[in-house]
Order: sequence, then C-alpha cells, then structure tokens
Amino acid sequence: MASTHDAAAGGARQGARVLVASNRGPVSYEVREDGALHARRGGGGLVSGLSAIGPDADALWVCSALSDGDREAVRQGVGEDGVRMLDIPADVHADAYNGIANSVLWFVHHLLYQTPLEPVFDTEFRRQWASYEAYNRAFAEALAEEAAPGAAVLVQDYHLCLVPGLLRELRPDLRISHFSHTPWAPVDYFALLPDDLRARLLTGMLGADRLGFLTRRWADAFAACCDAFTGGTGGTEIGVHGLGADGDFLLKRSHEPDVEERITELRAEIGADRRTIVRVDRTELSKNIVRGLLAYRQLLDDHPEWRERVVHVAFAYPSRQDLAVYRDYTAEVRRVADAINTAYGTDGWTPVVLHVKDDFARSLAAYRLADVALVNPIRDGMNLVAKEVPIVSDRGCALVLSREAGAFWELGEDALVVNPYDIGETAEALHTALTLPAEERERRAGRLAAAATALPPARWFLDQLEALRAIDRA
Ligand code: G6P
Repeated sequence: MASTHDAAAGGARQGARVLVASNRGPVSYEVREDGALHARRGGGGLVSGLSAIGPDADALWVCSALSDGDREAVRQGVGEDGVRMLDIPADVHADAYNGIANSVLWFVHHLLYQTPLEPVFDTEFRRQWASYEAYNRAFAEALAEEAAPGAAVLVQDYHLCLVPGLLRELRPDLRISHFSHTPWAPVDYFALLPDDLRARLLTGMLGADRLGFLTRRWADAFAACCDAFTGGTGGTEIGVHGLGADGDFLLKRSHEPDVEERITELRAEIGADRRTIVRVDRTELSKNIVRGLLAYRQLLDDHPEWRERVVHVAFAYPSRQDLAVYRDYTAEVRRVADAINTAYGTDGWTPVVLHVKDDFARSLAAYRLADVALVNPIRDGMNLVAKEVPIVSDRGCALVLSREAGAFWELGEDALVVNPYDIGETAEALHTALTLPAEERERRAGRLAAAATALPPARWFLDQLEALRAIDRA
C-alpha cells in the first residue's frame, strides 16, 4: 500500500491507484495511561477485501479521526501505511456523524422515527446539515489530493453520500463508486426529508460512475427514489453485491485457545445439557433486541416445557452511546432481560445470559454453542451474524430470521422466517427451531453456510473494483 508519509512528503509522489473512503477506518488509537498511543486494528469485510488486492496496488484508505486518540495520532504524525485519517474539527464531525448520519439518514433508511414527534427539520438541523456538507467536502478534497490520474475511488456508506458529486467536480478523471451498507428507504419514507436535501443526497450519490447495494431490494428502492425526485438515475450504473462471510477465517479463528476458554466459561453460565438461543448484535435500535427478549418470554409462557431447558444467550454490545436514544435503548434491553430473569429464573437456571462487553472471542464461543440463532432486525442492510452463526455452530444451528434483513434474500429458504414486529410468531418460530430434528437442522445449516460464503469479502471487493474499472468513461 502507498505510505501516507511518503505521500505527505510530496516530491516524486504518484498518488494512489485504489482509494477507499469511509467514516470508520481500519485502525483506531487509544491514549494509554502512560501517554503512549496504542493502535487497534479492526476487522470486517472492507479490511479483508482491501488486503486481497495485494501490497503493490498503491491503495489508500481515507477515514475520519473518531476519538481523542485518533486526533492525537494525526497530530503526532503517527499512522499506518496506507491509511490517512482526517482530523475534521470535533464539533463538525459530531454534527455530521451523530446529528445527520446517525440520527437522520440511518433513521430514514431503517424506518426508525416515531413520526408523531419526529423528525424535526428546524434551524438546528440546518446547522448540522452544513457540517455534513463540510465533512463530505473534507473527504472529497483529501481524495482529490491523493488520487493518481484515473484512479478508482470506492466511497462507503451513508456518512459520505455527497462525496461522489463533490469529488467528480474536483477530479473528473477519477472512477468513483459508492456502496451502501444499509437498506435504502422506500419512496414515501425518504420523502420525509426536506425537498432540497433529498435531491441533494441523491444527486450527490449520482455523481458516482457506479452505485452498489447489498440486495436488489435496496437497489430498487434507491432507483425508485431517483425516479420520484431527480428524474431517474441518469448514466450511473447500479450493481448488487451481497457481502458474504469469510468462512475460512471464522472456522480457524473460532477454534483458537481463547475461544475454547470462553466456551468453558459460557457453558458454566448456561448449564450442562441446556439448549441455547444465541444473538449477537451491536445495541442498535434496528436490531430489535427488546422484541427478541419479549418473544423468548412468550416462548416460556406458551411452551413451559422449555423452562430450565433453554437459555437465551444475548450479547448486546454498546454502540453510538453519544445518542440519548441509544443509551435509553441499552437500558431497556437490560431492564427486560433482568425482568425475565426475576420472573422466571430458578436457583439453578438463569433464563437470559446477557453480556454487554464487546468480546470477539466470546461471540465466536456463543456461535459455536448455538442451537438456534435469533436474527430479528426491524430492517438491516444484510446482517452478517445471520451468515456467520450457521458456519461456526458446532452442531449446525437453526436460524430464526427477520424477513426485513437483507440476508433473508439469500438465506430465507432454509431459515424460519418471521415478521420482526410479531412477538407471537417469533416465539413460535423459536419453538419450531428448538424442535427441528437434528438431521433436518444440520441439513439446513449446511445449506445456510454454503449460501453465506457464496461471496466472501475479498471477492465482494474485487468484483466492485473490476466493475468500476470496466466502465467506459470515454
Ligand atoms: C453499520 C454501518 C457502518 C458502521 C457500523 C458501526 O454497519 O453500515 O458504516 O461503521 O454500522 O457503526 P458506527 O457508528 O459505530 O461506525
């Protein structure tokens, strides 16, 4: 990968040939007590995808400084090769990220508003919108500065919808794509946005040569919004790339000693010979964790034979805690889990084992122990947990899956499919999942795992890069 330091040094600099832009980058920094900076590398599809293009590809990842540690790293000139972190002023970033991206765009695409009171597009909102513009412009300028002539730029997600259009103005020579990792809102819901801004968002994205979505459903929703509000998608190509799980990595990683240790610990919490219903999520409003708990409680009411014989293992990791509504939701998850344990628990049986501290090894341990995976989002771009658990589970899990997850389009046939709002139906699906004969469950899990690994992250990324490079811009 191209070194940021070399690039900053100028001189014989050629510029990067492949650029990725996203709010959250592949590395983050923490200031330790002794004042030293500690780097932590992240995982995820983009990281393994980008590494697949090899070290000679002149790739650069442009991302935001998100924490005080990140900002300190930028100021000290500490960095990873191939990564440029943008030190956008903290207040501008907060308005763009918390105010617009996570409180407006995420809400619109996941249908999260309580519409009698929200959203409110007032002066404060317009002020935050100006920050979203500034933050997108900072990315476009950095990309314009770093890109070699004709380079490919792959912009990620709803944080950066305006970048394609802004970058196109600065560098008409570049090949630009944008990929949405979220769902896309239906026309009537997208229409909640102020008229000028919905057009601005769409035309910002249409500045790209190519737009990518996780499923045909989200791609069609985007095209429908363009038909309604901008007179169509113009010359921009639209592609569907259903990100899959990295099966080889997961199987290997989930058999390492730290995972084995966590299995022993978890088994002790669950109790021997008990069945498990596993969920692993960020504590995210769209993940529907509370209704998952309510469905589990309903299962214990409707099928009391499961009492003492099943445990709901729920991992709900903190997310976006700057937003009050996420803090409240986190508290509600705890409250409902505690209430179930108080009402139904016995001396030797804790019905819900809830963990909130993010621990990847323990998540994999739960995957391995899963008899049933519960994935019931209100709405989700894809949901990789739905793909990962069937691959990793030791005995082949049954999957209870929301029809509103992007993964439903690939896994629906072998899952027990639910309406995420229907507690009774979800409770019944959990019962069916727990009672599936072992052979049937294994057969389904085998087919789920095959579908889940059909498009591994490296291929997913390379397909997009090749499609972008193949576009004739003459
Ligand atoms: C979703 C988004 C990502 C985002 C992730 C975590 O998957 O599509 O862009 O990075 O959530 O959210 P966070 O706000 O913590 O980055």
